[in-house]
Amino acid sequence: MAASAVDIESAQRARMRVAILISGRGSNMVALIEAAADPAFPAEIALVLSNRPDAAGLARAAAAGIATKVIDHKDFGKNREAFEQVLHATLEAHDIACVCLAGFMRLLTPWFVGRWEGRMINVHPALLPAFKGLDTHARALAAGVRLHGATVHLVVPEMDSGPIIVQGAVAVGDDDTPDTLATRVLAVEHRIYPLALRWLAEGRITVTADRCRIAGVPTPDRVLVAPGG
Ligand code: GAR
Repeated sequence: MAASAVDIESAQRARMRVAILISGRGSNMVALIEAAADPAFPAEIALVLSNRPDAAGLARAAAAGIATKVIDHKDFGKNREAFEQVLHATLEAHDIACVCLAGFMRLLTPWFVGRWEGRMINVHPALLPAFKGLDTHARALAAGVRLHGATVHLVVPEMDSGPIIVQGAVAVGDDDTPDTLATRVLAVEHRIYPLALRWLAEGRITVTADRCRIAGVPTPDRVLVAPGG
């Protein structure tokens, strides 16, 4: 039987309302927007919010028809909590259920993180817990690792920590530079971030002793060996 307009409308209402927080170009934001453009995706991108008025991602979000908002952290000086109170009130005003950090380069206080515990995720360009912080690709090369990659995790007050939802790995070649590595890792980020958001919105994720379990998602038995694999 064909779905009625009422069925379709109520299914759409049931999609989890997501805000994406950005500070820059927003390529991960675009990956999430594209995934959520499918009406069958369980989350909708209701708002893109930037702490920088010049973030290139704002125009990309607007072009996709997504509501955008700037809350310039510079307007709040060193008062992080005042900035975050406005951020939090804005998210609530838009009826946001889940926050995706996508290249959002502001440290968040325990107050804000506590408000969004279990409902805020972040993408990081390294296989956490290795290479937290900045310049992850140069540091991975300097450390001589043969596998590198990206992580999506639940956000906790400690930076680039929190239960890991999904990771993707790339092999590191002898000729890799930070830029070549960044390109391949970014493609991994774009692949894994929509997966993590989907699983969160579908209620598949449970956390026990800081470890995520994802119900109904199989674990592949492939092995990635580098070099030579
Ligand atoms: C991404 O590589 C993301 O993993 C990184 O910033 C970049 C943003 O790119 N985030 C962090 O380093 C956070 N610790 P994008 O704006 O094109 O998505």
